[in-house]
Amino acid sequence: MSIQPIRLFGDPVLTTPALEVTTFDKELRTLVADLTETMHDAPGAGLAAPQIGVGLRVFVWDIDEFDGHLINPSLDLSEELQDGDEGCLSFPGLLYDTPRAFRAVAQGFNMHGEPVTIDGTELLARVLQHETDHLNGIVFIDRLLKKDRKEAMKEIRNSDWFGSEIAQGNTPVVKFSPHSMLGLGN
Ligand code: NI
Repeated sequence: MSIQPIRLFGDPVLTTPALEVTTFDKELRTLVADLTETMHDAPGAGLAAPQIGVGLRVFVWDIDEFDGHLINPSLDLSEELQDGDEGCLSFPGLLYDTPRAFRAVAQGFNMHGEPVTIDGTELLARVLQHETDHLNGIVFIDRLLKKDRKEAMKEIRNSDWFGSEIAQGNTPVVKFSPHSMLGLGN
């Protein structure tokens, strides 16, 4: 297992749809372990494979001390919505109210290729949606209300990390802890 550099917004891998996993092998289990270790180190509530530069449909989460992972997910969402602040390890320091479905039922596979269903509300539902979005090349600022997105883009342009060598695809290890308010970083 090893901690991987987290790609920041501006890196094309974050806006590129990831590919289905077809081989459930040792390499995949190493990817899940690396994602989990990198998420814990950050720390964050979730992390998707594209965020460490791997274009596969895999993500992990850590909620209430429980680690989970999901491969090739598909989501069913409730009509009922929730409000709440959301951040992302690929957007250091950003935290915006992000509308999400209150409940999400995710179907996919574990790292051994066995089908699993994850049924979550509130924070788990939020993380399932946020991470599945990552696999589709969608980032959380795409989910903001128009006025908030405009403000977020301004904050990003003014941030010291945006446009740095990291955002251009070079990835030195950078540590940050952007979600101290709620401990939510995914
Ligand atoms: Ni994220």
